[in-house]
Amino acid sequence: MTGIVLAAMSRTPDPRLREIMASLVKHLHAFLREARPTEEEFETGLDFLLRVGKASGAQKNEMILLSDLLGLSTLVIMINNARGAGETDPALLGPFYRAQSPMCAPGESISRDARGGEPLAMAGRVTDLGGNPVAGAIVDVWQASPVGLYENQDPEQPDHNLRGRFETNADGRFHFRSVRPTGYPVPTDGPCGELLRAQDRHPYRPAHIHFMFSKEGYKTLVTQVFVNDDNCIAADVVFGATTALSGNFERLPDGTSRLEFGFVMQPGKRRLPRAPIP
Ligand SMILES: [Fe+2]
Repeated sequence: MTGIVLAAMSRTPDPRLREIMASLVKHLHAFLREARPTEEEFETGLDFLLRVGKASGAQKNEMILLSDLLGLSTLVIMINNARGAGETDPALLGPFYRAQSPMCAPGESISRDARGGEPLAMAGRVTDLGGNPVAGAIVDVWQASPVGLYENQDPEQPDHNLRGRFETNADGRFHFRSVRPTGYPVPTDGPCGELLRAQDRHPYRPAHIHFMFSKEGYKTLVTQVFVNDDNCIAADVVFGATTALSGNFERLPDGTSRLEFGFVMQPGKRRLPRAPIP
């Protein structure tokens, strides 16, 4: 059976599409031979995927969430990002990234909600593999609110709350103000939530801030910095947290938290990801 299907696809003109589809069919057939689903189970699986598609829309991308929960997103990052040269670990883009968030002045606050939160001052520096500053890089920052929702999930928050873009100065430095991030559950109101419950898995991500660094001549760095004392840091539901990405969110006597973090970019291609939802 597998050979017949592979033969039927063998004239695919695009060689890469031919290679990817042949591999996918071989592995899917092997999966069916191993798991031996009943016809009823197979229908349930197809219905699940159909519902994942239908649950995606302007508020969320359930397909990316499924890919995250199965470890696929992190595995693709590991395959595509060579490690060990000193560059910062990459991490998931996540389903709540928005393109074209507001350009901000150095030190500006990205907290646009009067309800605020525990104040945070973040200072970062971007260098290349040789330790030289990367000036003029665009730093895209986004995070969930203190109630654990991104602004595009939450009609109560102002547009672009807790999102902003900064530019590194001649010394590769940037800084901004925000609120201390909180851990949050991934959305559990759709088929992915059903799956987590069926697998007796918790839905939580450790508190983090998303960062994306881009500049011509450098590989775009998509990463996250995690609050190092978060209980979930060793059990991130989407397998994204690493020790190297743990940040010390130090609480100062005046109640402000302070985070300093260094990021290292490697040479490569600048590529901006497609926003998962508009
Ligand atoms: Fe996130």
